[in-house]
Amino acid sequence: MEIEKGTFIRDYDITAISETLNLYQKIEGDVSCVVWDASIVLAKYLEKRNSEKKDFLNGNKVVELGAGLGCVGLTAACLGAQVISTDLPECIPLLNLNISKNEQVWSKYGQIKSSPLKWGESNDLNIIPDKILLADCVYYEESIQPLIETLVELTGPETEIFLCQEMRESENQQKYWKIFMTNLEKHFKMRHVPPTEQDEDFFSLDIVLYKLEKRR
Ligand SMILES: C[S@@+](CC[C@H](N)C(=O)[O-])C[C@H]1O[C@@H](n2cnc3c(N)ncnc32)[C@H](O)[C@@H]1O
Repeated sequence: MEIEKGTFIRDYDITAISETLNLYQKIEGDVSCVVWDASIVLAKYLEKRNSEKKDFLNGNKVVELGAGLGCVGLTAACLGAQVISTDLPECIPLLNLNISKNEQVWSKYGQIKSSPLKWGESNDLNIIPDKILLADCVYYEESIQPLIETLVELTGPETEIFLCQEMRESENQQKYWKIFMTNLEKHFKMRHVPPTEQDEDFFSLDIVLYKLEKRR
């Protein structure tokens, strides 16, 4: 497969089911070409929640936004979910490579497919997800409002959103995060998930995790 050229594999262990995902990262490329730490923190949190509550993801309809390589969505599928992993159209080939290369693993437990979805643009997913997952998606100003619009559009009254984000030191990043959270709060009730509720090995004080539900 042509897209495989220029990639290298990062193994990612899903301890709960004793399986390993092979994540194909690009040696050179932009933000969607590697697995970011926030996605590991979120994926490990899903694993932990799933071990506490067996139907946490099993049979759930899940949408992943800004999936990159799809680490979070693939993990959710391995925990029994039916996942649609989304990203910009140009990121879909690498996402699809990761979905197909790990099919032998996820197909034993759940389902996953990709769909292009640019934030702020209408989507044809045609589902109200049980859960929306996103890791490290807040990093440039122009995307803030479109991302909030997409979250509002996709979320039903029962949908839970899990949003994980690395806090970076740059002044701009902090400014964008503040604007994002201020605007997000107008639409969603937000709960900070403290590190004590996260995976004891895979958390970071620089990475925040929130659970959101739509305001009624
Ligand atoms: C920092 S990466 C995080 C990727 C992955 N979630 C992870 O944590 O490994 C941000 C992702 O958001 C996607 N993205 C950025 N702007 C977007 C937009 N306007 N619409 C949809 N996806 C977007 C990028 O293509 C990229 O995959």
